[in-house]
Amino acid sequence: MIALGSDQGGFGLKQEVIKHLQEKGLEYKDYGSYDEKSCDYPVYAKKVANAIVSGECDKGILICGTGIGISIAANKVKGIRAALCHDVFSAQATREHNDANILAMGARVIGPGHALKIVDTFLETEFSNEERHVRRVGMIENDLT
Ligand code: RB5
Repeated sequence: MIALGSDQGGFGLKQEVIKHLQEKGLEYKDYGSYDEKSCDYPVYAKKVANAIVSGECDKGILICGTGIGISIAANKVKGIRAALCHDVFSAQATREHNDANILAMGARVIGPGHALKIVDTFLETEFSNEERHVRRVGMIENDLT
């Protein structure tokens, strides 16, 4: 199950992502916002982050105007590794190396065609499980620096 969240700036792109996931037959849950009225992105970042740490959803996609605020907010939740990606290479690398569990994007930064390729890459790429990456993700999770 994929958790989706946005503020008003990301609402339109989130609708494109929803259509795309539906076409692919992938299950998702939309945690809002549900229209283009001004709202506070940390609220939706927290809802999606909590859905992942609780185990209700496996991965999340968060979208605001830039992707920055919503990823900063999501990363405050322990167990969340939210990666702001505006290119396919980063989406692949953050799954392989960081085991990122949330993809963040900015609707005012990239167009929907590119965003959907990034979504597909993020969802289809597995964590590499190589020892050095497992160790580093563990260091993030356990604050071992
Ligand atoms: C909202 O205007 C905008 O600040 C928000 O979507 C996001 O870009 C914040 O980082």
